[in-house]
Amino acid sequence: MAEATTTDGEPAQQGGGDEPGEVVVELRGVVKTFGEGVTLVRALDGIDLDIRRGDFAVLAGPSGSGKTCLLQQIGCLDDLDSGSVKVEGQDAAVMSRSERSKLRRDRLGFVFQNYNLITVLTAYENAEYVMMLQGVPVAERRARVKALFEEVGLTGLEDRFPTQMSGGQQQRVAFVRALAPRPALILADEPTANVDSRTSDSLIEVMRELHEVHGATLVMATHDHRIMRQGTRLIWMRDGQIVYDGPPGEFEDWE
Ligand SMILES: Nc1ncnc2c1ncn2[C@@H]1O[C@H](COP(=O)(O)OP(=O)(O)OP(=O)(O)O)[C@@H](O)[C@H]1O
Ligand SMILES: [Mg+2]
Repeated sequence: MAEATTTDGEPAQQGGGDEPGEVVVELRGVVKTFGEGVTLVRALDGIDLDIRRGDFAVLAGPSGSGKTCLLQQIGCLDDLDSGSVKVEGQDAAVMSRSERSKLRRDRLGFVFQNYNLITVLTAYENAEYVMMLQGVPVAERRARVKALFEEVGLTGLEDRFPTQMSGGQQQRVAFVRALAPRPALILADEPTANVDSRTSDSLIEVMRELHEVHGATLVMATHDHRIMRQGTRLIWMRDGQIVYDGPPGEFEDWE
């Protein structure tokens, strides 16, 4: 698929012309266990799931219900016991290790609760890092980071190192780093867990904007009830299974 290469810094439409509503990730009968015998844990217990382009899916449920494991499967970051994971039609099981890492680099964006910024790189350098690996030309990298920094309120902080920024600012850099390469899908695991509630609110705004303005497809795990109502789709997990998947407004069994 051709990658969009605008240099005008216009908001990035994701995925270079991909159809809204088409299936980005397809999981069928995914089982992931840890341990054996009496210590066996079925972290994922037969998951069937389609993530469609344009979804803002919020993954919720009690601690230990399998949210992180599910994100790891969607992101082709872990092996599985049985079942299948397909990303944009490609079966993770038949890909080589290097094909999987290329898929992660070029089509997926990751945001984790501890930001995972590179401490010896500035905010700007962190934000452009994945695009550098992809070989995006320097002017294009600059234009995309500039536009996104403006949007999330990071303009002026380009030369700061992670230790010179607040948690919320670091998490914004992590979002820009994930979004700037225009991934097909952004996976976020409790991105607001380590920030105060005001910062969390502004990060929610950033995510809503990524979804509404850029048409980003997001899957985000959270314990934050305010975020759970912001998605277009709520996926509630319990004991490794999906027990609800639908509009957040119709869910009644909040913990
Ligand atoms: N590496 C591992 N080794 C053994 N058990 C694991 C491992 N990773 C996860 N588990 C188990 O798998 C189950 C699902 O864990 P997971 O991390 O997906 O839960 P979670 O829903 O993300 O929880 P939290 O909300 O606390 O982050 C839990 O019972 C957990 O203890
Ligand atoms: Mg987790």
